[in-house]
Amino acid sequence: MGLTKKQRAANYFAQHRALLQCPICHEAMMVEENGTVRCEENHSFDMAKQGYVNMMTHPATSMYDKSLFEARKEVIDSELYRAVYNVILAELDGDVAILDTGCGEGSHLAKLKESYASSMVASGIDIAKEGIVQAAKNYADMMWVVGDLAKSPYAENAFDVILNFLSPANYEEFKRILKPNGKVIKIVPQAGYLRELRALFFADSEKESYSNDKTVARFSENFDDVRVQRVTTTLPIRSELVPLLAHMTPMGWHQEQQIEAGMLTEITIDVDVLIGQ
Ligand SMILES: C[S@@+](CC[C@H](N)C(=O)[O-])C[C@H]1O[C@@H](n2cnc3c(N)ncnc32)[C@H](O)[C@@H]1O
Ligand SMILES: [Zn+2]
Repeated sequence: MGLTKKQRAANYFAQHRALLQCPICHEAMMVEENGTVRCEENHSFDMAKQGYVNMMTHPATSMYDKSLFEARKEVIDSELYRAVYNVILAELDGDVAILDTGCGEGSHLAKLKESYASSMVASGIDIAKEGIVQAAKNYADMMWVVGDLAKSPYAENAFDVILNFLSPANYEEFKRILKPNGKVIKIVPQAGYLRELRALFFADSEKESYSNDKTVARFSENFDDVRVQRVTTTLPIRSELVPLLAHMTPMGWHQEQQIEAGMLTEITIDVDVLIGQ
């Protein structure tokens, strides 16, 4: 008999418990045999059977549901974001501990891990429980956590790299848990992101100028040696992925039209990758 998901995750958490810190009292964490994560002050967080730990300290509601994360996984599995991964992977060196903040259903992080030649200790945190449940179901040997990236359950100087992929950020918290000389890699959408889909949504697609200047300025105030690398690729998209793509798009894109399979044949990924130390 192999290990259960829960037991395997408990082992992974135990092995990498130094990355963790109590989100309530900030003491060190122990991992018990059944996966319960407990601090010296006796604050405890149970391991779920799927193999993740919920370390939220306050209630939160998420705008994202199960079907959205399933759509995301399908689209991400189609390798649409490979060019972005190549830029991220080029920033990594040797054995790394990496945290994906706002990881959703974890597919980006899992793909990075499987593509990386050296050892990668990886944790993903998201406030949406449905995302983390799916991440834990699909990807073993990663530390999946339900939590708030602004009040994270991680130790000081824990990570070599913090990834922030199309998600909100908290730079004070990132600096606390990043190693000296660690890197923050933030992915933000650029003007052409999913533009074929946007053109379908909005009959007369707006042609306003678009800029990430403010995001880059805020990032530069917080980190050193900031570089911005734009990644633009247009790829063919399988017909059946088109409605899924529509389902996973930004909430702000009010949909005026029903999107069906085959309405698009290609799709553009256009992002800025912000890299800082
Ligand atoms: C647009 S999705 C991006 C998900 C994934 N990184 C991707 O690129 O497919 C934004 C994610 O950030 C998460 N999120 C928002 N606020 C958060 C917070 N305070 N702490 C942790 N995650 C958060 C959401 O639940 C959601 O999964
Ligand atoms: Zn505690």
